Amino acid sequence: MTVEVRPTASREEFTDAVFGIAQYFGMPPLTDERYERYMRVLPHDRMFAAWEDGGVVGGAGSFAFVLSVPGGARVPCAGVSAVGVYPTHRRRGVLRSMMRAQLDDVHARGEPLAALWTVEETIYGRYGYGIASWCGDIELPREYNQFARPFERRGRVRLVEGEEAVEHMPRIWERLMDERPGMFQRPEPWWTDRVVADPEQRREPGDGPKRFVLYELDADVRGYAIYRHKPSWGEGVSTAKTAVVEALAVDPDATRELWRFLLDIDAAATVEAGSLPPDHPLFLLLASPRRARFRMLDGLWLRLVDVEAALSLRSYNGGGPIVFEVADAFCRWNDGRWKLEAGVASRTNEPPHLRLEADALASAYLGGITFRELADAHRVEEVLPDGLAHADVLFQAPVHPWCPEVF
Ligand SMILES: CC(C)(COP(=O)(O)OP(=O)(O)OC[C@H]1O[C@@H](n2cnc3c(N)ncnc32)[C@H](O)[C@@H]1OP(=O)(O)O)[C@@H](O)C(=O)NCCC(=O)NCCS
Repeated sequence: MTVEVRPTASREEFTDAVFGIAQYFGMPPLTDERYERYMRVLPHDRMFAAWEDGGVVGGAGSFAFVLSVPGGARVPCAGVSAVGVYPTHRRRGVLRSMMRAQLDDVHARGEPLAALWTVEETIYGRYGYGIASWCGDIELPREYNQFARPFERRGRVRLVEGEEAVEHMPRIWERLMDERPGMFQRPEPWWTDRVVADPEQRREPGDGPKRFVLYELDADVRGYAIYRHKPSWGEGVSTAKTAVVEALAVDPDATRELWRFLLDIDAAATVEAGSLPPDHPLFLLLASPRRARFRMLDGLWLRLVDVEAALSLRSYNGGGPIVFEVADAFCRWNDGRWKLEAGVASRTNEPPHLRLEADALASAYLGGITFRELADAHRVEEVLPDGLAHADVLFQAPVHPWCPEVF
């Protein structure tokens, strides 16, 4: 039986394609409201469906994102999401056919990058995606919430409704994007539909509603946090949690104030937060960072859809030439030797410094994983002496990439 993959063209097709993943999350078919929300960020032609025997058996979508890369540039990036195959049609190559169609489409659109979060981390390497950032969860008992250095509190934290928060949050997010690779620009409807909206089906058991706070200094909003109370009791005492959804601020002072506020909320026995980068300031602010029990996971996965364009769009520490020999079994147009010189990549016949597969180059691209680390894991071969050290100097970024939201 042959599988056919093409973009969806009607509400019915779109709904069936999204059900490819929605069923695994226990969600019903799309309501009017959810369909309208999707339409604001994921048009039909970016949501592919796979058909067999005239019926939809899977779906794969991609948001038209723009991703921050080292040096501060913002690069068009397909934000791959809503990928799923009906359980009745698994392991027949449906996913492979959808990845083929999607990456060809992204390439034709001229988007040099594609990025995703994985449900299972063993799936996407074969399509040229590599782990590009690490992130993790914390769970900090309140009795260990002290900071290593006392400080004088300044400014104030104000509890607001989502409508007011959304007037300030995009500016703070944008400011962070200038510094952190790996963040995607949230389209305007994303803020209201996904960040502020709080539909029941997106809550975990025991979750209270989203609360929004703004941190202000001299009437200037310098940070925000979104969190939930998760009340619970055990043996007569509160075992409640403060669950931090997102906490971002414009500078280290505001970050410290915001986290002090979050860690001090009464009634909570524990503060939990997810998707924090390993270099988040919180760890060195805390007197006992080990008590946060950071559990590191793979974060954003990246694919260089167009190696030449992608390499030419980030910046480097120096312009010294380096040659990569890239093997890209899934996107053959990237195969071959690429010379990077003065920040511009072009094809070359010169001998390579490093030999590697497309997923390894993607892992190094945002500066979160070094070529040395990749070589130590047999993902990169050093062909010319000092190739690894040279590449690592060029690609080094001052901060770890961070994508604060799973999409
Ligand atoms: C994961 C999923 C999309 C795979 O779809 P599928 O149509 O069965 O996959 P295919 O038959 O095209 O297999 C493609 C390749 O991936 C491998 N693969 C598929 N599912 C895998 C899994 N869960 N873990 C590891 N490898 C997997 C296959 O062995 C095959 O490998 P090969 O190309 O080396 O032969 C599907 O099982 C699914 O929808 N799962 C639940 C939702 C989910 O995880 N979605 C992904 C969101 S990030």
